[in-house]
Order: sequence, then C-alpha cells, then structure tokens
Amino acid sequence: MSRLGVGVIGVGSIAEMHLGAYAANPDVHLVGVFDVNHERSAQKAETFGVTRVHPTLDSLLADPEIDAVSICTWNDSHAEIATAALDAGKHVLVEKPLSRTAGETEALVEAVERSGRHLEVGFVRRFGANAKVLKSFVDSGLLGDVYHARATNIRRLGNPGGWFADHKRSGGGPLIDIGVHVLDLCWYFMGTPRAVTVSAVTHARLGNRANVTSLSRYKVADYDPTRSDVEDFAAAFIRFDNGASLTLETSYSLHALEDRLEVAVFGERGGAELEPQLRIATEMHDTVLNVGPQIDHLSFDFAEGFANEIAHFVALCLGEAEQVAPVSHGTEIMRMLDGIYESARAGHEIRLS
Ligand SMILES: NC(=O)c1ccc[n+]([C@@H]2O[C@H](COP(=O)([O-])OP(=O)(O)OC[C@H]3O[C@@H](n4cnc5c(N)ncnc54)[C@H](O)[C@@H]3O)[C@@H](O)[C@H]2O)c1
Repeated sequence: MSRLGVGVIGVGSIAEMHLGAYAANPDVHLVGVFDVNHERSAQKAETFGVTRVHPTLDSLLADPEIDAVSICTWNDSHAEIATAALDAGKHVLVEKPLSRTAGETEALVEAVERSGRHLEVGFVRRFGANAKVLKSFVDSGLLGDVYHARATNIRRLGNPGGWFADHKRSGGGPLIDIGVHVLDLCWYFMGTPRAVTVSAVTHARLGNRANVTSLSRYKVADYDPTRSDVEDFAAAFIRFDNGASLTLETSYSLHALEDRLEVAVFGERGGAELEPQLRIATEMHDTVLNVGPQIDHLSFDFAEGFANEIAHFVALCLGEAEQVAPVSHGTEIMRMLDGIYESARAGHEIRLS
C-alpha cells in the first residue's frame, strides 16, 4: 500500500481537526466524505481538497480506494457505523465516546474480532505532548504504584446545546462528553485497572442557561439553545480491582468561581498533575521535588494532539505502530460511565457486573 486512502464520516466541528491533520499528512489520500447534511459535506470537501462527496454511507463504505475511516458523527451512531465500516474492511478511528452505552459496543467488539481490522478510540488527550511525557515517566516506575487519581472537568457555562443537550443523540451530558476525557486520562495513567464499584450522583438543576450570552463560545454546528434533557453536573467515586480509587467531578453548568480542568495521579513514589499543566512530584535524597518538564505545551494543545493522534492512526493502519486506544479501552470506559449513571439513578453505590 502506498498512501492510505481515508474517508471521513460526519463532517461537523471536530471533523475539521481530522480533515486538517489528514490533509497535511503525506502518507494519506483524502478520498471521500459523507454527512447526512449534504451541503456541509460538499463545503468541507472543497475546503480540505477531498476527492469525492459520497451521497450515502453505503457508497462511502463501498469505495475501494478507502482503506480507513474517521467517524465524527453524533454519539448515537458511533457503534453502528463503526461496525458497518469494519465489516466493509475499513480500519476505524471513532471519536469519543465509543457509544452511548456499554451495551451498544457488544456487536462492535465482535466486528473488530472478525474483521481483523484496527479500531482506535479517539482518546485524543492521550496524544498531547504532556500526556506522552507523563506516560513514559509512569511506565518507567517513577511514580511507583499509582493508587489514587482525581479527574475534574468543570465548566460554569458550558452546555453547548444542540445534540449535546439531547439525550437521544448524545447518551448524556458533561459526563459522557467532557468528563470522559479526564476519566480516561487518569485510568490510562493508573494502568487501566478494572472498575469494581461506583458511587455517583448527577444533577440537572441549571439546564441550558441559554440566557447567558457567554455561552455562545460553545456553539456547535446545529446549535439549538432552547432544550436540554441531560445532566448538568456529575460526581463519582470509583474503586478498582487493584485497590486503587478515583474521584471525578464534571459539569456543563455549575455555580463555580471558574472553569477547572484537573487530571492528577498519586503513587507510592511520586505524583503528577497532567492538567492544568504537567508537573511531577517526587522524592530524592530525602527531599520532596516538584519537577516541570521543558516541552512546548505543558497543557493539552488541540492542534498538536489531533496531529499526533491522526499520525499514529495512519502509522497503525500502515503496520508501523502499535495500538494505543483499542476497543477494550473504549468499552471499559463505557462500563464506568454506565455505572455512574446507574448509581446516580439508584441513589447508592453499585457493584459493576
Ligand atoms: N476528541 C475531542 O476532543 C472531541 C471534541 C468535540 C467533539 N468530539 C466528538 O466528535 C463527535 C462529533 O462532535 P462535533 O462537535 O463535531 O458535532 P457536530 O454536530 O459539529 O458534527 C457532527 C456531524 O455529524 C453529522 N452526522 C450526525 N449523524 C450522522 C450520521 N448518522 N451519518 C452521517 N453524518 C452524521 C452531522 O450532520 C454533523 O455534521 C461527537 O461524538 C463528539 O463527542 C470529540
């Protein structure tokens, strides 16, 4: 195979990061796009120099020049489209979250096994320079056994409206949309242990807050400020099979004094904060040290993260890299998210099956 033929399915906001990174990659031929909004696909194809605008999903998946696809649709179609793409012989990069529920991933897991194709979950924050540095420190044992993590992604006024606030299409609110990033990062640095119990709450008290003008910075392609039937805050405590624990707080709307992003892990020999910026705490010669690595972006940089994620996916499809975010990671994260919503509904701690 000379260049990897790529198709992009769903070409709204985040697809622009995928299209831009593919267009800049010399190992890629951007062959086709498909979106249920045909005007949008034609416009994005022109902007990014894509060869074909496919009229249907089936026509894109039948395109013999397409070896791999990015799926950037709403959450309600991730699992179904990924399954169809694998069965059509394509490699798949599917945006986070993998699906709306863990149950939706069952057919997909089987499709990965029978197709022999690669599926990567778009946990893009694993590909930030700060995350790559911290992962190498963790893997080398600098933090020792990591036994607790703190994951926070708080927006004071951050309900994007549109499909994000429509449970049917999103599967949930800030937990499944932005909480998933920080939950995944902590779990990744903890060594992906299996979750055993969850105690959680969700609140839907403040809604879309469409009357607050600064909300406009979160506008999406089909922004509709009038509705929200998802939670606006979630908090959870998770225990893992290796004795480790994790606390999570995330919101679209909260009367907090400021937005807050925090990813912190604590081990027997050291600790680290990945966000708001990478800093590592350790001990040497009876001294406690805070170490700040010298890299361009100490916090997550979108352009760099997506360029790295797409470069890795292309290398994986060309047989030049190992998987970083396999389907098993996507399904385990969905299992935790399901557990959080279930515990919140039940009003007590639950044991995950
Ligand atoms: N990795 C990240 O940091 C990040 C950031 C934002 C969004 N996302 C994820 O990306 C996905 C898309 O989010 P967005 O902000 O780009 O939304 P968006 O609404 O801007 O774009 C989604 C596009 O998909 C199209 N679409 C929806 N269902 C479709 C289907 N079944 N077939 C074909 N096209 C379909 C819509 O018409 C729209 O153009 C979501 O799953 C979201 O969670 C990830």
